[in-house]
Amino acid sequence: MKQQIENVKKSILSFEAKTEKEVEDFRLRFLVKKGEVNSLFEEFKKLTKEEKRKAGSILNDLKNYANQKFKELNEGVVAKEEETKEGTDFSLPGSIVPQGSKHPLSIVQKKMIEIFERMGFNISLGPEVEDDWHNFSALNFPKNHPARDMQDTFFIEKEISLRTHTSSVQVRVMEENEPPIRTISPGRVYRNEAISARSNSFFHQIEGLYIDEGVSFADLKQTLFLFVQQFFGEKTEVRFRPSYFPFTEPSAEMDIFLGTETEEDYRLTKGTGWLEILGCGMVDVNVLENCGIDSKKYSGFAFGMGVERITMFQYGVKDIRTLFDNDKRFLEQFKLLN
Ligand code: DAH
Repeated sequence: MKQQIENVKKSILSFEAKTEKEVEDFRLRFLVKKGEVNSLFEEFKKLTKEEKRKAGSILNDLKNYANQKFKELNEGVVAKEEETKEGTDFSLPGSIVPQGSKHPLSIVQKKMIEIFERMGFNISLGPEVEDDWHNFSALNFPKNHPARDMQDTFFIEKEISLRTHTSSVQVRVMEENEPPIRTISPGRVYRNEAISARSNSFFHQIEGLYIDEGVSFADLKQTLFLFVQQFFGEKTEVRFRPSYFPFTEPSAEMDIFLGTETEEDYRLTKGTGWLEILGCGMVDVNVLENCGIDSKKYSGFAFGMGVERITMFQYGVKDIRTLFDNDKRFLEQFKLLN
């Protein structure tokens, strides 16, 4: 009996299984009722008491060993299958990496910049924390002049504030460069306004500046008209309305025509059919001189527009705050537009 047990043990020890089928062969050979291990138990029954005492424990050990070996073989095969799946099965579909999307403001800003770049404008940037000179004084806002109230300012110190417009970058560019200057300045600006569906305490603008000899209002109109045609479509109508800004003379605001046919257009244009999209004008002589540019030799135009306003119009966004909530359900809708 002892010898028989030893022989079965040896067979179990040397048994190898690489596939599920081979593991099953092991089970059928050793573990089923008529398998080699149970057959030994049948033999065992026939032994005398004395012999049973000797063989009992080694036979039990054999059974445990067989079960243990079966478990190991099984785990080995499963692990191997996983391994080949991950390592070499190229026909399996890849794991999906979620795709990000550009922010709608970035999409619109990029499109605007590209249009002006094609017209020969370069990009210039300035600081968001600005001194009084660049944000106001150089731009012809006299101290204590009511024009400063046009923009509610976040002050940091007496003469230092968060910039209220990107016009501050005009000043920096003119101070540092000789004409001809053709530049656009995108950036974030801040205003101390009550937050609502229509206004936020920060937003984005794109500023434009063109200074050279003999630049006229006709150049301004043509540049902006070309921009509108490329951005909103060739047939877009525009109009210029006289306006006032301290840093331009004459000054204007430009509207594009939407009509009042849809309820949305009616609402956006307050029933006029016209949507204001930017402020512009010929750079005031005082501003040129403040920035060290010879106003007898050079003239130029400037314009500034809000990116949020145009983004909201383009995508039908009704509340400016949705642009800053970072709600994925909103942002994911812009995936295809990247
Ligand atoms: N800075 C003005 C604003 O924030 C916009 C603006 C108007 C910019 C006329 C200009 C301009 O350059 O010429 O409301």
